[in-house]
Formats: sequence, C-alpha cells, structure tokens
Amino acid sequence: MEKSEIRQIFDNAPKDSINFGLGELQFDTPKTLLKHASDIISNETIRYTPNAGMLELRRSVANYYAIPFKNNVCITVGAQEAIFASLFSFIESGDEVLIPDPSFIAYNSIVRMLDGIPVSFDLDPRKNFKLDKNSLAKKLTPKTKMLILNDPSNPLGTNLDKEDRAEIIEFCTKNKIILIVDEIYRELYLKRRSRSYIKEKCNVIVISGLSKSHCLSGWRIGWLTSQNEDLIKPIITAHQYICTCAPYLSQKVALKALSKDEFTDISDIRKKIVHNFKIVKGFMQDLNLKFHRPSSAPYLFLKTEIDDRGLAKKLLDNGLITMPGSIFGKNGKKWLRINYGVDEKTLKKGLNILSDTIKSLTR
Ligand SMILES: Cc1ncc(COP(=O)(O)O)c(C=O)c1O
Repeated sequence: MEKSEIRQIFDNAPKDSINFGLGELQFDTPKTLLKHASDIISNETIRYTPNAGMLELRRSVANYYAIPFKNNVCITVGAQEAIFASLFSFIESGDEVLIPDPSFIAYNSIVRMLDGIPVSFDLDPRKNFKLDKNSLAKKLTPKTKMLILNDPSNPLGTNLDKEDRAEIIEFCTKNKIILIVDEIYRELYLKRRSRSYIKEKCNVIVISGLSKSHCLSGWRIGWLTSQNEDLIKPIITAHQYICTCAPYLSQKVALKALSKDEFTDISDIRKKIVHNFKIVKGFMQDLNLKFHRPSSAPYLFLKTEIDDRGLAKKLLDNGLITMPGSIFGKNGKKWLRINYGVDEKTLKKGLNILSDTIKSLTR
C-alpha cells in the first residue's frame, strides 16, 4: 500500500504554498484549553489511564449524546484510530464493507489493510449526490458485514437527506449490517447541527472527536460509542493492543472541552467558518463557478469543467494546495475539494490564485 494521495500531494507541494488541501482547520486552539493543559502538566503525574479512557470522560461522551452510560464508550487516539479499531474488530478476511462514493479515502484503505473488501455504492453527482438506491441494493452479498458513512461528508460538506438516511438505516437493519457513522464534522455546521445517528434503531457505532470542532487535531483525541455495549466490547480489547490508551493529557483537555463552557467557546470557531463560507460563496458566484451547496464546514466541493487532477496540479504549481475530487472516488471526477478553514487573509490570497488559474486555463 502507498501513502494516501492527500499526503502525497501535500508532501510534494512547494514550500510556502497556501493550504486549502489538508482536512484540518488552521485556526488557533481555544486558549482556555491550552491553559488547562499547562496546569495539568504542572500539577499532575501523566501516566496510563484505563484502556477505554478516563471514566469521567467516557461519561461526558455519553452525556454529549444524551445516552445512558454503560460500558459503551471508548476514548481513542483521534477518530482515525476509532475507525481502524472498529473495522479491525469485526472484519474477517473476505468480508465486504459498503462505502459511499465519494468518501473519505481512509475507509477504503483500512478495509484493504484488514484483508476485507471495500465495495462502493454511488452518491449520484448528477442528482446532487443523492443516494443511488439501486447501486446500494445491487452491492449486497452474503459477505456484506458493515457499512461506513461519513455524515456530514468529507469531501461533500453535506449530510445525507432524510430519505437517504432512512433508506440506509432500513437497509442495515433488514440485512443485519453493522453501521459505522463517522460524525467528526457534526459540530462545524453552517446553520443547524444535524441529529446524531446514535439513537437510530439499528446496530450503529458512532465515531467522533475534537480534532475539528475544537481545533485539537494534534492532540489525537476521539471516541467511539454505541447504545449496544456488545458492539463496543471487542473494540475496547482491540484498542488496548493498538495503543493501550489515548494520551492522558489529551483526555484531560477533552474533558474540559466537553464541558458546557468550552462548547460555548467553539461558537467563535463556527463564526469564523460561517464568515469564510460567505466569502467563498460570493467569490464562486462572481466567477460563475458551480459548487455542491454544503451544510457543514470546512469543505467546498467545486464543479470543474476540466480534468480535476490537471487543475489541482496547475494550482499546486501556482502555490495553492487543493484536492482533486477523483481521489475520493469515481463520482468525484471533475470536482475539486477546497478547505476554507483558514485565516481570512490566506483565504483571499488562495481564492485569487484559484481565480487566476481557472481564467488562464479557460481563456
Ligand atoms: C472523515 C474523517 N474522519 C476522520 C478523520 C480523522 O480525524 P482525527 O484527527 O480525529 O483522527 C478525518 C480527518 O481528516 C476525516 O476527514
């Protein structure tokens, strides 16, 4: 296997490029969290925690979803480890995992690492990326074990609509498929926060974390949970052998981040995102460029008339990192993903490069 194409593009970017490419917000981490971390370093001994995480933090996660706390929460090293540990715990060689096209590229790679078979179903770009029910139904086989969704979606920046969500839940229930929903972007909503899948009446594992909502990507802290504790039990065992526990300091910071006050604090992050989205939207409209209308930040999926890989390469040469839609699946062909979670000055600079490059290519 190779490094992800996202990392390859990033690693080959000229120095000082503007970064609309990687999936992290380039805003400051809330200062109260940094101060809290520094107090912990001064006053506490940093050691292992229980494998599944500190009890208070696990309780806080259950509280966040308003579900009863049993042995049904595991604190992980980012959402990424949560994805790995949950797929690792259920996939046997040859098991099939349904994955939407387009979607976050790690799902496909992790399934292959585990000797499972990733099977994609279509979100139709001609119909506003609506679920293609026939494509999903056709992919069902006796080997189908899991379905993994990202809602809100990376790269689309949208939630599944009500009808598509109900369709997926019914499909998983009827066919006894474990549903994993990665909700890492749920707090970065532009207007309204979407309802978590945690209370859906199917075998569902919800994954999330604080990398995006609290700009804590470097702290590597996330979680997974379910109302069905039997689904979490084997994952906690796997997690123990993968990494023992999530870092003590990050867990302490997460506990603070999940407190009421800190959740109010992320409204600043959200304000910046909403503000940036307005700038990007105005810019795209002025240039007459089409995009998939997002419900959540930080991604804008931009329609391109020319080959997306060629365009991303040209932009890279001009000092702007973006991601060609094709790397997220065949349905991303002729789309470009841009991350507008950057400071305003950088945003405007990057948008100008985008504008100049597109004009030069379509002249
Ligand atoms: C859809 C999705 N899930 C998970 C992750 C990883 O998140 P974390 O930093 O919590 O591991 C990312 C990061 O870009 C992502 O886009």
